Formats: sequence, C-alpha cells, structure tokens
Amino acid sequence: MERSPQPVSAIYPGSFDPLTNGHLDVISRGARLFERLTVSVLRNAAKEPLFSVDERVAMLREVLSHLPNVEVDCFEGLLVRYATQKNATVIVRGIRAVSDYEYELQMALMNRRLEPAIETVFLMAGEAFSFISSRLVKEVYHLGGDIGALVPPAVELRLRQKTLKPTC
Ligand code: PNS
Repeated sequence: MERSPQPVSAIYPGSFDPLTNGHLDVISRGARLFERLTVSVLRNAAKEPLFSVDERVAMLREVLSHLPNVEVDCFEGLLVRYATQKNATVIVRGIRAVSDYEYELQMALMNRRLEPAIETVFLMAGEAFSFISSRLVKEVYHLGGDIGALVPPAVELRLRQKTLKPTC
C-alpha cells in the first residue's frame, strides 16, 4: 500500500457520555499524529444516554478549544460511510487494556470489510487513565465518589448540574 502524500484526516468516534480524561489523552495524541482530527459523537437512538448529543458536543467543543486541528461533530449510521463523507482515511480508537481488544478488533475488522480504504489506528491511553470509563465515572459520581481526577473540570461541572436518575 502506498503512503498518501495528502494530509491525513482522522475520525475519533465514540459515545463520550461523558468525555473522560482517558478520551482527552487519546485526542491529544491523535491531534499530534494527524493533520486533522474529527471527534464525533454517535447519535444512537437505541441507547439512553445521560447527556444528549448536543450536550456532549458542547462539552467536547469547550474542552478541546485549545486544539486547532481538532473539530467536534456528530454522526449516525455507518461509521465508515460517515468517514468517507468527511474524507477521513483513519479511524482512531483508544485501547486501555487487553479487555478492550476483542471488541475493538471485531469493530476494526468489520469496518475494514465494509471499507478497505479506511484504516483503524489504535492509540494506547496513558497508564494513569487505563481504568477510567464513562460508565464507571457516572457510577462513582452517582454514588458520591470523587471524580475530579477522572474528567475535565467542565465535564465535572456539567455532571453536577445534571440530576442523575436513580437506577432502581
Ligand atoms: O465509545 P463507544 O460507545 O465504544 O463507541 C462505539 C462506536 C461509536 C465507535 C461504534 O458503536 C460505531 O462505530 N457505531 C456506528 C455504527 C457502525 O458503523 N457499525 C458497524 C461497524 S462496527
């Protein structure tokens, strides 16, 4: 495969419900590697998120405003179709631990089958972030634990403003 002389545009897709410091670490690494990085929130009618897509996009824009080659967007439908529309040739995904590998491998191979011209690139988040997930952040916050070191301050503020529904 020949190396493209063009600047490389990459997509970092995800739920980001909410953005964590682990995501932020992957985004900073991706922004250094690629000329353009689009962080894109999946619009997924099947999930019941804590933050709406608009809220997540607003949070991402606020937190990422210092990164000039990073834009924030949302998408629905097939990721590879969206990436093609954005002229992106790379999908970025973060890997925290071996437990992420199977799911990520499956998605990467499916995306390659659907669109061979798009490569998935895995970035390792720093080890300090390897245990952080959006799901656990919400759980710890809901139970009154300190999440100050797990999410950017703007996200912690939005979490405080949100009334979490009881889970039972
Ligand atoms: O942060 P997440 O929830 O692990 O992100 C998952 C995401 C958004 C990357 C994945 O669900 C996705 O790409 N959805 C789009 C639908 C799609 O293209 N599916 C087929 C390829 S696996």
